[in-house]
Amino acid sequence: MRLALLILLLALPLAGALAAPDGARLFREHCSACHGFDGQGGMGLPLSLPDFLAVADDAYLTRTIRHGRPGRLMPAFRELGDSQVQAIVGFIRGLQPGIPAPPSNDEPVAGDARRGADLYRKHCQRCHGADGWGGRGTGVTFSRPRDFPVMPPALNNPGFQAAASDRFIRRTLLHGRRGTPMPSFRERGLSEQDVDDIVRYVRQLGRAPGSWRPPAEQPPVLMFDSPYSLAQTVANIKRAVVGNNFRTVRVQPLETGLRPPGEESPGQYVIFFCNFEFANRALGLDPRVGLFLPCQITVLKTADGGVKVMSMNPKFMSRIYNNRELDEACDEMHDLYLSIMEEATL
Ligand code: HEC
Ligand code: HEC
Repeated sequence: MRLALLILLLALPLAGALAAPDGARLFREHCSACHGFDGQGGMGLPLSLPDFLAVADDAYLTRTIRHGRPGRLMPAFRELGDSQVQAIVGFIRGLQPGIPAPPSNDEPVAGDARRGADLYRKHCQRCHGADGWGGRGTGVTFSRPRDFPVMPPALNNPGFQAAASDRFIRRTLLHGRRGTPMPSFRERGLSEQDVDDIVRYVRQLGRAPGSWRPPAEQPPVLMFDSPYSLAQTVANIKRAVVGNNFRTVRVQPLETGLRPPGEESPGQYVIFFCNFEFANRALGLDPRVGLFLPCQITVLKTADGGVKVMSMNPKFMSRIYNNRELDEACDEMHDLYLSIMEEATL
């Protein structure tokens, strides 16, 4: 009994050390790909700027991680435990250890939304969009206007609205963010009342009709049975690709690179095809599309001698991208895959 207690007492601090989530590791695992190794920014906004950490309270950071920004790349992290989210927030705070966190305070600020609307049109619209949709594109490579180091975030976004308190928005407007295009409106000569009026209007943007909805559930793969032989089906697909204004890049065994040349299964082929105008447009919206280019359709002989035609489902991909602008391109690509596969198996 006593021995058990002793072991327990000895083991406790050790277990505690093992169990405490490591904020740096979690940040690098879940956030760095977009926000940079040390939060300096990339596809996601910079998180290490002194002017950001001086105005962002812990509730804002925590709620942003939980809600994400639906349709704006920033994912919602629902699978992380509370202590893990706290550890990530602690890591972000540690990027500017000299700057104390402002208090979290959800009390509303009082202002006149109608006056705020006029001020918004005059001072904010050119960057954050007429109804708060934010800048276009992801902010990386050629989707970003050259003079913009980061894209203006969407202010009508349900995730932003749920995360940001009135006080946070107020502080952001008064303070601005040096190192980004976001100016300080105190320095621009707006009064505190002007700023509060704008805050009330920014709140209304979140209630605008037609705000973003997640795309419907989708199967990951599109699949058709072909009544033709494997060779005939491949020929049909090549014909349908051209008929849809795309061009075939190459046809190769599915197992290319996995087996020595000449030993690949003769019953499985991939047809790669492309349309450069379309590819450039999609890459401009989100460079991650590059992982799935050129377009490809797989043709397989099944064990019972049938032939199947399949592709990934672009509408399924668009849920993963979380990029509202890309959804339209994915819908277009989805219809293209369907039309090629339907034509080839008719
Ligand atoms: C010249 C372009 C520009 C103008 C004008 C501008 N912003 Fe910004 N704003 C930005 C950028 C870029 C960011 C992101 C800054 C960053 O990287 O931290 C931003 C960030 C913000 C944020 C923080 C949101 C978030 O998700 O972090 C709020 C709120 C905001 N702006 C509101 C406004 C309002 C309201 C106005 C008008 C009074 C305004 N902005 C004017 C470019 C602009
Ligand atoms: C796939 C890319 C991506 C990943 C992964 C990602 N973010 Fe973001 N994040 C973004 C983008 C893009 C925005 C700006 C939203 C907008 O454009 O409206 C953003 C915004 C934010 C903001 C608001 C910043 C501001 O200036 O107000 C915070 C805080 C944030 N992310 C934290 C995190 C944390 C913490 C993680 C990891 C747990 C994470 N993000 C993972 C892309 C990402």
